[in-house]
Amino acid sequence: MAEAFEDKIAPDQPDKMVVRGLEGVIAAETRISWVDGAQGQLYYQGYNIHQLAEKVSYDEVVYLLWNGELPTVAQLKDLKRRLAEEMCLPKPVYKWMKSLPRKTPPIAVLRTAVSMLGLFDPEAEDISPQSTLRKAVQLVAKVPYIVATLHSFRHGREPAKPDPDKGLAHNFLSIFIGDKLDEEIEKAVDLLFVLHADHGMNASTFTARVVSSTLADMYGAVSAAIASLKGPLHGGANEKVMEMLEDIAHPKYVDLYIEGLMNNKQRIMGFGHRVYRTEDPRGYHLKKWSKKLCERNENCKLFEISTRIEKKVKKAKGINPNVDFYSATVQHVLGFSKIYYPAVFACGRISGWTAHIMEQFADNRLIRPTSRYLGQYGRKFVPLEKR
Ligand code: CMC
Repeated sequence: MAEAFEDKIAPDQPDKMVVRGLEGVIAAETRISWVDGAQGQLYYQGYNIHQLAEKVSYDEVVYLLWNGELPTVAQLKDLKRRLAEEMCLPKPVYKWMKSLPRKTPPIAVLRTAVSMLGLFDPEAEDISPQSTLRKAVQLVAKVPYIVATLHSFRHGREPAKPDPDKGLAHNFLSIFIGDKLDEEIEKAVDLLFVLHADHGMNASTFTARVVSSTLADMYGAVSAAIASLKGPLHGGANEKVMEMLEDIAHPKYVDLYIEGLMNNKQRIMGFGHRVYRTEDPRGYHLKKWSKKLCERNENCKLFEISTRIEKKVKKAKGINPNVDFYSATVQHVLGFSKIYYPAVFACGRISGWTAHIMEQFADNRLIRPTSRYLGQYGRKFVPLEKR
């Protein structure tokens, strides 16, 4: 019998090229967003991001990504009320968050908290459209709520009560920073959420779609997406950008520092992109706001360091800043500590993840690619006692 398993020749391999990093591979059909890398444009449900940024609220974008249309006044009011109602957590999750070491990265807390939410939802396994939409509303509200509540606990405050007439950015901030809210800060956070809401088949969205394609539950798909976002090549890059700006410390050290990175073949965080061959359109708005907020604070040093890095990297490597580059200075000027940056990214991207999970469920086929095997064949088995 064992003889039958002895391979005489190597079996045939699929006659296809391995596409490293799946570059250029079309893995799904979607109506949610499109990244036009050649032209440097981003579309949400057909609207160019430049048309939406600074003109619509994040809550309107959430509605748009889920429904394909911008909401009416009544639809928006209803969505805001539902989101505010969902800004709360099961008691054991609050207790667990309070018990964590202070330095636990917020994005790691978020990943585990979302997974825990599934344990408290009796309908977690129900992937019917109604149940999935209910969970999408919950997650779009609870993800920013978890991040803001963690911050308030770590600053000795209980989370403020969300206002059902206000949008997510306002309610997030009122919990995150307490009573130091003003209109400009709120606008900046709203814009951050709008610009991070969706971005084609990025790594975390792909992760969410792979998990959903097995018909696993939405909490699992979102916690996996958060795990993927956390990496420094994806949503963790913004925190690394701030570490670099702090290391550089003064505009006069930019050239030396960047040359050092390049000589050591190290990545310059916040630069480069898989799809954009020109500028990242989100960067345009973030750079503008970075300047505006730095001027407002009468401290432009970080902005000056950033623009000098941009100039240097463009000239030396021909690569542009991506969304994570100027989002770091925006968040810094807003007073956010850098360990929160990847989690703030997730607060916006949750709308895109939930939209993609619903789209995947609506027309599902298991995502299961293949691989080229480079290992050996026909090895002779040796029992344990003879090895
Ligand atoms: N610093 C230095 N060189 C770079 C960088 C960078 N940030 N990005 C790309 N390159 C070079 C790279 O060395 C390579 O050069 P060569 O062909 O001479 O070896 C070439 O550009 C192509 O790079 P790649 O790694 O094949 O490109 P990729 O599409 O696999 O990687 C990326 C895309 C975003 C991972 C990469 O640009 C990178 O590591 N950037 C820094 C991390 C970062 O900012 N990530 C945030 C991405 S955007 C927001 C998001 O979606 O999360």
